[in-house]
Amino acid sequence: MMRFRKSASLLCAAALAFAPIALAQTGVTAILPDGRIAIPSIGYPFAFHKNYAARALAAAQASQVPSRMVAQTPPMGWNSWNYFAEKVDDKGVRNAADELVASGMRDAGYVYVNIDDTWEGQRDASGLLHANAKFPDMKALADYVHSKGLKIGIYSSPGPRTCAGYEGSLGHEEQDAQLYAQWGIDYLKYDLCSFIPDVMEKQAPNDKAAQMRLMVAAYAKMDHALKATGRPIVYSLCQYGWDAPWEWAPSVGGNLWRTTGDITPDWDRIYAIVSQQAGLEKYASPGHWNDPDMLEVGNGKLALAENRSHFSLWAMLAAPLLAGNDLPNMKPEIKAILTNRDVIAIDQDRLGKQGTRAYSEGEVDVWMRPLAGGALAIAVVNAGDNRYVTHPFDLSLTKLDLHGPQTGKDIWTGKPITLNDGQTLELARHDVLLVRIDAPK
Ligand code: GLA
Repeated sequence: MMRFRKSASLLCAAALAFAPIALAQTGVTAILPDGRIAIPSIGYPFAFHKNYAARALAAAQASQVPSRMVAQTPPMGWNSWNYFAEKVDDKGVRNAADELVASGMRDAGYVYVNIDDTWEGQRDASGLLHANAKFPDMKALADYVHSKGLKIGIYSSPGPRTCAGYEGSLGHEEQDAQLYAQWGIDYLKYDLCSFIPDVMEKQAPNDKAAQMRLMVAAYAKMDHALKATGRPIVYSLCQYGWDAPWEWAPSVGGNLWRTTGDITPDWDRIYAIVSQQAGLEKYASPGHWNDPDMLEVGNGKLALAENRSHFSLWAMLAAPLLAGNDLPNMKPEIKAILTNRDVIAIDQDRLGKQGTRAYSEGEVDVWMRPLAGGALAIAVVNAGDNRYVTHPFDLSLTKLDLHGPQTGKDIWTGKPITLNDGQTLELARHDVLLVRIDAPK
């Protein structure tokens, strides 16, 4: 598995003869002394002035077309990239669809079967794109997925090439959108990648404002092309969280937008991503979601506690739940995590309010998420490596603006729990206490 990821990474890196894009770990956005917005951890030279974003946003709003009424709750499903990367093929996608049904995941809400990068073949003389040999008949595959009561997603880039170096949609947006609709595609992930060096840097060298306008216009162009098909297609923007996509993605029809660089199946990476989500909650609402990347539950060497925490936190964040594991070979304990209905209910809560980090103390973070009907979810996460028993954590209900003992359900044990102010919690490393309180006081 790691071999797949590595070779995919190399392919990706080789395909892009410029600063790290797909595999960069996006850091915290900072305001530079000269007023520009930068992303220091990637060292990438893109830094747009915040006013550029506002201007690009206004331009996009002027050309806004009606919303497509999809993704009223965060999309749920499976995506091929995190485990299979470039090894994805027709058979693997069919197997994933079969397993979504057999495992009960479909019935728990996982309906999108999303093919990520490396399905693309060549364009013919008319510009029509064909899938490569791994996907002999995309329409037949889509029909198969639909016959299982599932939906199907696909991937492209606004640039000439995708992140893995395959054919992108530049100059063929309408044609590609029509093709997707004809195949029966229900979801598009649109990944920036080569659009930066091949369009933004070439057409507007040294003009960051113009580059930003080009980028926003490219996403708007595909939005129009998708809407022109008349088919409801979820539109997922993959832009690594650079240039505050949460501020402008909804205005170009984005139903979700990546808020970070790529996830990997490591606790440190997962926790770094979680930390970057604090403060973005105000941008999420039904039809518009922050996307901290696809799930790694069941991948790599993540411990069970880490899988639980990862899944719990994605639910607190109202994040898309796109499983990224090898479904036919999923262990029962991983299936139990992914199909926990109480966690899914938090993620899919109809109020659509993303959780906030209420407070942190040392290595422990406390997240809160308001739920429909006045209910509340609380997640207490021990992010540290060693804090256990000898260094218990005392939960402050006062800091959560709660008064007196709170009775709820401990989601991972399934048992009732009463939380008291100052209560001592013993959380193993990287583990979580997730509680739903239906009537908080
Ligand atoms: C980028 C994206 C990933 C994946 C790859 C495919 O890295 O962020 O999620 O889609 O491209 O090449």
